Amino acid sequence: MKRIAILTAGGDTPALNATIAGAVHRANQLRVEVYGIIKGFSGLLNPQVPHVHLNPLFTSIPELDPTRGGTLLGASRDYVDAQDLETIARVAERLHRLKVDGLICVGGDGTLNGMQPLGEHLPVVLAPKTIDNDLGLNYLDEASEWIREPNGSSKGYEYKKRPGREFGLDEMVNYATPGFATAVYVSATSVQRIRTTAESHRRVSIIEVMGRDSGMIALGTAYGQPDIILVPECPFDADHLVERVLAVLDKQKHAVLVVSEGIRDVQGHILGAISASKDPAGNVQYTGAAEAIKRLLVDRIGDAFFTQQRRNESADAAIFVRKVGHTQRGGRPIQFDRFYASQLGGKAVDLLMLGLHNCISTLQYRDGGFVLDSIDANKLRDRWGNIHARPLSTTFYDRERFQPSAKGVEYLRSIFSNALGVDDVESIRSLFDVGNLIHPYNSVNVDVNKRIMRLSEA
Ligand code: F6P
Repeated sequence: MKRIAILTAGGDTPALNATIAGAVHRANQLRVEVYGIIKGFSGLLNPQVPHVHLNPLFTSIPELDPTRGGTLLGASRDYVDAQDLETIARVAERLHRLKVDGLICVGGDGTLNGMQPLGEHLPVVLAPKTIDNDLGLNYLDEASEWIREPNGSSKGYEYKKRPGREFGLDEMVNYATPGFATAVYVSATSVQRIRTTAESHRRVSIIEVMGRDSGMIALGTAYGQPDIILVPECPFDADHLVERVLAVLDKQKHAVLVVSEGIRDVQGHILGAISASKDPAGNVQYTGAAEAIKRLLVDRIGDAFFTQQRRNESADAAIFVRKVGHTQRGGRPIQFDRFYASQLGGKAVDLLMLGLHNCISTLQYRDGGFVLDSIDANKLRDRWGNIHARPLSTTFYDRERFQPSAKGVEYLRSIFSNALGVDDVESIRSLFDVGNLIHPYNSVNVDVNKRIMRLSEA
């Protein structure tokens, strides 16, 4: 292979530039040219395919900075529909005209769906990313546990997963995805910061973190010591939750709850789905989980408890909601993400060079450390060809205490014990660099724009 292309699709993460940097670094060693496609699949759907040569003379361009969050290539949630064979053929023809011999897509499950049909035309490999940490399997045969259950919906069925089996941590496929560690770092720090207000004002704080149907980020916020964590994979019982909140309030006069945006009650209702909408890739976007928990606590605990005992104005005033929001998806990646993202990017190049195709570079946990590996993308698909978000294993969570279980602690420890580097701590000091006051923000988009090339329309 003489020339490959790379694109970043789906939501951004802090580790995308690190993945691209790792891929380009490996390509430099192998004397392979790398073209970066602008704005994910949207760049391929554009007849001019805006792109950037990332390594002229096999030297990475200076805009490619692995310590910078986001992606210098830009990202979009546009995707290539597997059924639309005409568009796929057109995209393949454009890549052919660019003289590209292989394509690396940096993304999650939506990206994998967009990438696979292109695999009929040229070699494709996925380098994983997602803050949700839900691209992968808890164990190799997990995808076969999904079943279709008839329901009254327009499709006529919904997907349900049969109860999983016990597994060892070293069985997990794609142990942690780049972006997850930084998201946990930001979210856990947010919990610590919001706690002091709840504590001082005797309030109940409900903090919502991202993750869609996965509770991985919420579980990771345990490092910030919230009193209660709710995850989508373990539907909560309202009575038990209220009981626990009251017990915490009784002891320490305030409480901090973390809720994942996709949480469900025991009846199976997704609390954040009240105003759910879909993005272009068909992903359901949940909003309102924390608000729903607030309403539940306001109704169940009532004003009197807060006015008489806590001297607050009302339950509504005493219970407050904060979303960590996009801060958990942005900014400088921490060392764990930077290091393994770049390794996974490099591995993706190696996979293409080895002639492996339609596969994913993966991070595996072995003998207390991490190794790189790969998996055929189809292993992630159920028998109908769908890819499901990897659920947080219920064995990682203690429903009684609303906290990580012993196995959950073990999982988190393996990732986070050495996740921060000295330079991460040092980088905090750069915020008060006086240059920040004097110089306007220097967007990478400005410099990358000057490098963008386009295919002339045939
Ligand atoms: O998949 C990553 C993610 O951050 C989810 O956790 C979240 O639900 C979603 O993307 C938000 O998407 P957007 O930034 O497009 O609103």
